[in-house]
Amino acid sequence: MIKPHGSDQLKPLFVYDTERHHALVAEAESLPSLLLNSAAAANAVMLGGGYFNPLEGYMNLADALSVAEKLQTTDGLFWPVPVVNLTQDVSGIEGAKRIALRDPNVEGNPVLAVMDVDAIEDVSAEQIDFMAERIFGTLDPEHPGVATFKGLGNKLLSGKIEVLNFSYFQTDFPDTFRTAVEIRNEIKERGWNKVVAFQTRNPMHRAHEELCRMAQERLGADGIVIHMLLGKLKPGDIPAPVRDACIRKMVEVYFPPNTAMITGYGFDMLYAGPREAVLHAVFRQNMGATHLIVGRDHAGVGDYYGPFDAQTIFDEQVPAGALEIDIFRADHTAYSKKLDRVVMMNEAPDHSKEDFVLLSGTKVREMLSQGIAPPPEFSRPEVAEILMQHYQATQS
Ligand code: ADX
Repeated sequence: MIKPHGSDQLKPLFVYDTERHHALVAEAESLPSLLLNSAAAANAVMLGGGYFNPLEGYMNLADALSVAEKLQTTDGLFWPVPVVNLTQDVSGIEGAKRIALRDPNVEGNPVLAVMDVDAIEDVSAEQIDFMAERIFGTLDPEHPGVATFKGLGNKLLSGKIEVLNFSYFQTDFPDTFRTAVEIRNEIKERGWNKVVAFQTRNPMHRAHEELCRMAQERLGADGIVIHMLLGKLKPGDIPAPVRDACIRKMVEVYFPPNTAMITGYGFDMLYAGPREAVLHAVFRQNMGATHLIVGRDHAGVGDYYGPFDAQTIFDEQVPAGALEIDIFRADHTAYSKKLDRVVMMNEAPDHSKEDFVLLSGTKVREMLSQGIAPPPEFSRPEVAEILMQHYQATQS
């Protein structure tokens, strides 16, 4: 089976040993505590589940700057996006060597993890901008990822963590949320060797569905792991429970049994385009996938990135051998009227736009909120039905 990133065995930071877990829960009650922001909490959940293997906690400033600049830590570990705990206010934890990290996304702010604080460093405005510019490729405050990152704070807490739960993901998405450990185990149990991961933050339309099918067929893969983001999105994106329902319906009706696993992970969307695509590859390798589909404008937003920048970054900024997972590259995919099927546009004999059923996200949202189903060439009717119900419920 494909090795995790950076180590032979996956080393999740969740505390599986029951005795140690009990002891930490008890200890945490008497520790000074820090209320995390959602980004830092999401990092803890990813570290807990083994997705961010081999990291052992939050990066210090030197590592964060190094990762932002050249995609590697000061020790030379390949890593595409700083994994940080940035906060605004450290009163109450100053001088503490061990602290409890509280979850901002669960009522009552229960303890999510216990941290050994190595350092609390001040990050200058220039350093924040440097990291934001490297991660997102822009400093435009309108970019949702830049806005979030720049609002996190300028105190950076670094050190090892031990994770006590998986926040709201396990309780709200019991059938869908999976750790990297669980997915690895399930892949092994199914006896799959070649495994394609599909990243998504959307309900799956025909283009998404066919991309999965094309990747599976062309690679001769044993199975596909649909791996949806369950964390926070920008306003206007479709909530996870609705996407989950759409994806489940689509797989049930249109995929042969036992060819697709429906899973999700607890992370907030960064909208970092190319850099996020590389992070996606790292954590798909950790969960045991041999391939990740990267199509058009992967993890993008607006027109900040070129449509295939998330593919070329693998040629330009991922050194040979840095990752074991491979990328399945897809061109813009759409329904061709002449061919009467969904194809990669560069493989269609007729490249004229008129041959394709192309709808913008805005157009699709407009149709759905008016109770009009997009054409079946674009969306499966069963998926459109769930989406129309969602849009109509949010309007009334
Ligand atoms: S993402 O932010 O998670 O990347 P989305 O869920 O829309 O957004 O896309 C999931 C994957 O499908 C990404 O790899 C993306 O590049 C790819 N994709 C989505 N739509 C298309 C399309 N029409 N043509 C080619 N690739 C696509």
